[in-house]
Amino acid sequence: MISYQFPPDFLWGTATSAYQIEGAAKEDGRKPSVWDVFSSKPGRTVNGDTGAIANDHYHRYESDVKWLAELGVKHYRFSISWSRVIPDGRGQVNETGMDFYRGLCDRLLENGITPHATLFHWDSPQALEQRYRSWRSREMAKDFADYCTATVQRLGDRISNWMTLNEIACFTHLGYDVIKTPEMAPGSRVWRKKDVWQTSHHALLAHGLGCQAIRAASPCPCSIALVDNPAITVPLTESPTDIAAAQQAFSTNWVNGGIIFPALTGQYNEVFLQSLGREAPDIRSGDLETIHQPLDALGLNIYTGSHVRASQESPGYEYVDYPKGYPRLHMPWLWVVPESIYWAVRHISDVLKRPELPLLITENGCSAQDELTQQGEILDSDRILYLRQYLQSAHRAVAEGYPLKGYFLWSLMDNFEWSWGCDRRFGILYNDFKTQQRTPKASFRWYAECIRQNRAV
Ligand code: NOJ
Repeated sequence: MISYQFPPDFLWGTATSAYQIEGAAKEDGRKPSVWDVFSSKPGRTVNGDTGAIANDHYHRYESDVKWLAELGVKHYRFSISWSRVIPDGRGQVNETGMDFYRGLCDRLLENGITPHATLFHWDSPQALEQRYRSWRSREMAKDFADYCTATVQRLGDRISNWMTLNEIACFTHLGYDVIKTPEMAPGSRVWRKKDVWQTSHHALLAHGLGCQAIRAASPCPCSIALVDNPAITVPLTESPTDIAAAQQAFSTNWVNGGIIFPALTGQYNEVFLQSLGREAPDIRSGDLETIHQPLDALGLNIYTGSHVRASQESPGYEYVDYPKGYPRLHMPWLWVVPESIYWAVRHISDVLKRPELPLLITENGCSAQDELTQQGEILDSDRILYLRQYLQSAHRAVAEGYPLKGYFLWSLMDNFEWSWGCDRRFGILYNDFKTQQRTPKASFRWYAECIRQNRAV
């Protein structure tokens, strides 16, 4: 019988991000981020929601840490708001903003919870948008590195697990578009697809320069990771030909070839780059070396995957559509593909040939249509069903010897889900956005039990 027992040092955590939970958008010297500006424009978010208040975590972080302690996690991933600590994006540091993170880390550490800080989770300072249009400029990478230096110098006594940028493809390829108004901030229209590729190239540079800055500023040996959301190709059957097809599809997929490949191998995927032709970004000499920094871990945000099989006619692969009625949770893209965790880990090790690189699932979770019962409970058996299967898939990767070291559930609490506003709930704590009351869902109790037993229960 499989017990789904994880190794004793497996890391159990949960994750959030600054703009999605902090609120206090105008307090203590914080200035606007691109998300403040974007979400306040009519029609950009569901119900016109913004992160101005969100979960009011800025004022409630002490009780939120108590929830983490009650959950039993020993690891917590959160992000630092650049515009709270350097309100103009460059120059003057806002020590009051830094104090917030000092306080948060102190409470975490007192509770035996290790902080894992993401330095960029999409909320870039609006001042840099005005100055040089954010990621469209190479200058952004340099300013990001300076922000890393200032932050690590001040918080490096409390934090030794750093993550540079979260999901580069999302804030670049969904934030800039040629054809339609983008769904993510800054929501800029550009002339050519090449301009979009240039933004993700600049973000990769920011990652590289950020890694160097963090290593130089950290007062103690630290761990540095990139957090990526590669597109995961899952073989339809585990026949050798379908597996080979899924591997081939993984390497040529646009999001992978243009982001995880350069970050982990120092080269854009060649087939993919050729397919871009004149749309490829300008790559200066030395850029790829800068981007390809030694990493201590790679964070993977995994929610779904696509099925692939060996092509029926010619050698190669083909994507298999989700059939009618295929299970999907409360997001248009949230097809339930639990094997995606296993294949994410295996593709990084085998296709990208990095079998030694420690991997973390830095996000996995689902949005469900939670309702309070008359007794005030949320009995989210749909979320438990989803999470259990994904955790079992994580277990398979560990059992087969792949270097998967930990799992962070997204998210500790319902929060501001970007252009979906507060309409989509990913939390294991239910949040009443009027009263800010947090209520543990059944999935919170279920996850606590997984942690306590160190297995997928
Ligand atoms: C990934 C993003 O990092 C996070 O901010 C978002 O809330 C989740 N996906 C769910 O969409």
